[in-house]
Amino acid sequence: MSRSVVRRNEMMGATLDLGGAPIELAEYATTGLLAIAIGPRGNGKTNAGLLMAEQLSRQGWVSVLVDPEGELESLYGKAVSDAQALARRLEKRDKPIVVVAAGDATEFIAYGRALLEAADVHRKPIFLMIDEGQVFSSTKKRKDDVGEAVDIINQFAERGRKRALDLFVTAHRYTGSIHRSLFANKNLTLIGCQEDPTAWAALAPQFRASKIEFNDLNALAPGEFFCFSRRGVEKMRMPMADALGHVAPKAKAVKRALPSTFSQWNRAMMEISDDRLAALSDRVVSFLGAVAGLAPQQMLSGVRALQDEREARQ
Ligand SMILES: Nc1ncnc2c1ncn2[C@@H]1O[C@H](COP(=O)(O)OP(=O)(O)OP(=O)(O)O)[C@@H](O)[C@H]1O
Ligand SMILES: [Mg+2]
Repeated sequence: MSRSVVRRNEMMGATLDLGGAPIELAEYATTGLLAIAIGPRGNGKTNAGLLMAEQLSRQGWVSVLVDPEGELESLYGKAVSDAQALARRLEKRDKPIVVVAAGDATEFIAYGRALLEAADVHRKPIFLMIDEGQVFSSTKKRKDDVGEAVDIINQFAERGRKRALDLFVTAHRYTGSIHRSLFANKNLTLIGCQEDPTAWAALAPQFRASKIEFNDLNALAPGEFFCFSRRGVEKMRMPMADALGHVAPKAKAVKRALPSTFSQWNRAMMEISDDRLAALSDRVVSFLGAVAGLAPQQMLSGVRALQDEREARQ
């Protein structure tokens, strides 16, 4: 039996509004959506997935939220009781957003199989959010439950296109967290603040054409992402998902505390009074440096700046 060519009709005219120019899903009709969000704790990755789920559920998708931390039931209702219950929801499509509670790969497997089966049989649009992807996926295929979960998730990524299964996965880091097959197939990428300069090596190739540098990534506030889509790369300040916006505070952008230009430094130095400057003994300086986690190079240049300032005031 031959199947007809998949046509993702629901994609035509559907859009995602993630805070930048609306993303036209027609551009994803031939590939399906495989979105990945990378960012540190509290960066707004979960919010990004919820925002997409809410928007897609209003446009014909059933969104399934895999919740390893038990944080989504209070927002979208009780989790399905088991994999059969999930299968029923996906058959009836009577709830636009379905929460799946799975704390680890072992708990995920039965739900994963039910999702593959439902996608295969019904071929109606499903948006699957796998929050904390590193809980269910790993960099290598292994011969345990994590291995099987990796396998299922990779099947979502590789075969989802023909089954109207769209995927969103979050992870803390770009390397060493989730299977590379996901990165190989991704077509919408959200990259949040990066604190770790060594992570830049893995990210830099993507950013090469865009003139975006580590400092730009480092300066992103919660809810801000660089978004790579079919259109190219754009910095986005993401709105809050409706359900989360009702209960969570909107994160405030933290103003960077450190001066970055010479005149800012100069002004900051001049604002330090003589007695406070005198109190900065070697021991105090090395203590503060240790607390701030400064590198030896940074300590050296700081100490030199302090000496200069002392001499200038004599
Ligand atoms: N777009 C946004 N605008 C403003 N505030 C936001 C935004 N997204 C998230 N926040 C705030 O940051 C908090 C953390 O967001 P979220 O839970 O989505 O982060 P996360 O990246 O999933 O963190 P974790 O890795 O710990 O799960 C939210 O509760 C909310 O207060
Ligand atoms: Mg989260």
